[in-house]
Amino acid sequence: MSKEIAIAIDGPAGSGKSTIAKAIAGRFNYIYIDSGAMYRAVTLKALQLGLDLQNEAELTLLAHTIQIQLQYKKGVCGQPELRVIVDGNDESEAIRSLEVTSNVSVVAAVAGVREAMVNLQRKMADASGVVMDGRDIGTVVLPGAELKVFLTASAEERGKRRWLELQAKGIQTDLAELTDQIRKRDLFDSTRQVNPLRQAPDAILLDTTSLTIEEVIERLMSMALEKGAKP
Ligand code: DC
Repeated sequence: MSKEIAIAIDGPAGSGKSTIAKAIAGRFNYIYIDSGAMYRAVTLKALQLGLDLQNEAELTLLAHTIQIQLQYKKGVCGQPELRVIVDGNDESEAIRSLEVTSNVSVVAAVAGVREAMVNLQRKMADASGVVMDGRDIGTVVLPGAELKVFLTASAEERGKRRWLELQAKGIQTDLAELTDQIRKRDLFDSTRQVNPLRQAPDAILLDTTSLTIEEVIERLMSMALEKGAKP
């Protein structure tokens, strides 16, 4: 039986989740929801407003009032490109800045922020076939997802991938520093009290350390087809 299913992809920073999730969504013509982009949007807005990132009440209020839209526009080579609109402004690049990246874990650990984002994510996923990536998608946001995958890779490999990504954009960084940042973010995300980064008991673990992107996409495609998804 073929049907539209929900696919939850979780894993640590730099495990390739968004690249894989985007590709799978494209193959099935499903919507792709980048939940990390939403926590980044709240963090960016908090920084723009000069909020105290330790003030949970202010961050919670912000998360409940912020307008976040995930839009797709035709990008280079006709590939759909995700644009993140925050209170009417396109902040797609700004949410990936170093400042946002180094503060997002603190904001994402606030219970009120998570509650607001989880509600929004569930509403966005309501429509049809969906691929959502993040840290708590299989455990909290979409516990009923037909396919749950937990992607991992060694910290060294993930650091190297991020480094290459930044190099390609012309941004020079230090590989060892980048790998260290990734380790710290993982530790913070997996040891926080609310909805930590965790593999759901019914998720399939896939270590991508020695796999190419194409190999990972093919494995996930087979898993989704097995669950009845139709390309
Ligand atoms: O996937 P990313 O690097 O864009 O995510 C940014 C941060 O947001 C990450 O450090 C942890 C947090 N996050 C989260 O707590 N829960 C999610 N579902 C997605 C991201």
